[in-house]
Amino acid sequence: MRILVTGGSGFLGTALNSFLTSGGHNVASLGSRDCDLTVPGNLAKVVAGSFDLIFHLAAWTQAGDFCLRHPGEQWLINQKINTNVLDYWASEQPAAKLVFMGTSCAYAPGSDLRESDFMLGEPIDSLYTYAMTKRMLYQGARALNLQYGLKYLCAVPSTLYGPGYHTDGRQMHFIFDLIRKIIRGHEFGEEVVLWGDGYQKREVVYVDDFVRILWSLCETRENDIFNIGAGEEFTIREFAEQICSVVGYDPAKVHYDTSRYVGASSKCLNVEKVRTAVPYELTPLSVGLRDTINWFYDANAYGASDGIEGRSPSGLD
Ligand SMILES: NC(=O)c1ccc[n+]([C@@H]2O[C@H](COP(=O)([O-])OP(=O)(O)OC[C@H]3O[C@@H](n4cnc5c(N)ncnc54)[C@H](OP(=O)(O)O)[C@@H]3O)[C@@H](O)[C@H]2O)c1
Repeated sequence: MRILVTGGSGFLGTALNSFLTSGGHNVASLGSRDCDLTVPGNLAKVVAGSFDLIFHLAAWTQAGDFCLRHPGEQWLINQKINTNVLDYWASEQPAAKLVFMGTSCAYAPGSDLRESDFMLGEPIDSLYTYAMTKRMLYQGARALNLQYGLKYLCAVPSTLYGPGYHTDGRQMHFIFDLIRKIIRGHEFGEEVVLWGDGYQKREVVYVDDFVRILWSLCETRENDIFNIGAGEEFTIREFAEQICSVVGYDPAKVHYDTSRYVGASSKCLNVEKVRTAVPYELTPLSVGLRDTINWFYDANAYGASDGIEGRSPSGLD
């Protein structure tokens, strides 16, 4: 198949590209340096020919408290990116299936995080704008499907983890932040301070598992929305203990700072729909964490002992 990937330089995009190219597909993968998607018409200038599939992964966001501090920019940038991609799809690639990412934070607090709830109620305050841009993207695809019969698939991931995450100092998703802080505690003797009381619950999905499940859905489903998650969550303390045991750090030395931003207290996606559509086994957490920690050491993703710590004050999203 001929496949276009936006956000191809990102964490998920990199894993997806490997999967697609190893499957023999012809992949055009774009990062922001290849094509700034905020500029109308750029996609049609940069890529030629027709595609069978478009994976739209590009988004301007980071984990931690980034969304809390950049709501205006997030609205403008992500709305431009998404509108330009939808426009390109409708005008240049109407035969392609558009596959794009939602977010679990689009679900309103108190919902049971089923796909039918994705557009209902109001998202949590701290992630409201980012969540609404994802809802608008979903509605844009549904509108183009309604009017022109274009085919789409929306995937809502829980937090992804695995080797190959970014190492450039951007805020990290909670699981990488935990690993980085615990390794730094072990390697440099830094105090390990995690945000919140440690009883917030989260689920994670190994990035290669996510890609495999996404591909199975692409092959069989269209004009629908699917959560892709583990269906099981752990407290931050449980994640920290597992990481400490791999790294060799005493979990009793981990401090919890209850004054810091922690996001939702729990957000476990309902995965009944995807498990019925494409039954799957996930990489066990212990194996996924070990691989991710090994990658941290191999890539020196935990930084130098020079105060790099201060540049990435990650929270728990
Ligand atoms: N990672 C998760 O746990 C998670 C969970 C839920 C949903 N998602 C969604 O999954 C998708 C991929 O996530 P990710 O973790 O791979 O994100 P990421 O690592 O931050 O990658 C984001 C990608 O978007 C590109 N991008 C940003 N601004 C752009 C612009 N103006 N023009 C063109 N490209 C632009 C980036 O390009 P450059 O790097 O080249 O600038 C990068 O390739 C996103 O839509 C995200 O919302 C991710």
